[in-house]
Amino acid sequence: MKLDVLLGEAAVVPADVADRIVVVIDVLRAATTVAQALTHGARAVIPFESVDDAAQCAKSMDQDAVRLGGERRMMRIPGFDFGNSPMEYMPDAVRGRTIVYTTTNGTRALTATHGARAVLFAGFVNTQATVDAVCALAEDVADIAVVCAGTDRRLALEDVVCAGRLVRGIRAAFPDIVCTDGAHVAETVERPYQTDLRALRQDATHARTLDAAGFVADVTHCLTSNALTMAVRYQDRALSPFVAATHALTV
Ligand code: MLT
Repeated sequence: MKLDVLLGEAAVVPADVADRIVVVIDVLRAATTVAQALTHGARAVIPFESVDDAAQCAKSMDQDAVRLGGERRMMRIPGFDFGNSPMEYMPDAVRGRTIVYTTTNGTRALTATHGARAVLFAGFVNTQATVDAVCALAEDVADIAVVCAGTDRRLALEDVVCAGRLVRGIRAAFPDIVCTDGAHVAETVERPYQTDLRALRQDATHARTLDAAGFVADVTHCLTSNALTMAVRYQDRALSPFVAATHALTV
């Protein structure tokens, strides 16, 4: 069993994810927003790389049952119902609806996972739930790859710190797992933030950029450990809650 961390979505080639349990991390803000929407009762979130494809898909659906969400340059896309703030995805807005969704980095990183055995989407808000889901899926046999989505094809510190937390949790569950250098790097980078994530607000470029743009509450929420208990699975081109019991029944 091997545990790898890929420091940036741009570095991923098909062999890195083929037949592995893959966790995509996008702390600021896509993975946090998706976990929030699903926790608040959205039926599913369907990610698209392009704005046009997302808009086209939403147009073909029952208009009461669908909402368009996402961002470009952090801001809500013209004509869309929501931006990328987790605070917009409250129960009254999303319950029972499908969210068609596109973001600059997070949704693109998901499409790089083609060929994986299973894919999860994670941030700090659901790290523990994601570790539990990985353990349920890996069953002591599968290799695991953690993909840090990053920002504009560059490494993002908050994603690497979150990857380090996952590594710590997965190693606790599988002490014999073989860690790649990428996994060791993530675990080492996470150490100064182990008990307190607040310093990331200053240290991480995208956190500072979001703060400066007025998304202060978003950054606070995204840097909160385990605020949500749901792991998110990407399967058949849709994001939905990971249900361990369903998986257990199939083995
Ligand atoms: C993304 O997925 O590109 C990010 O979530 C961007 C953002 O902060 O809205």
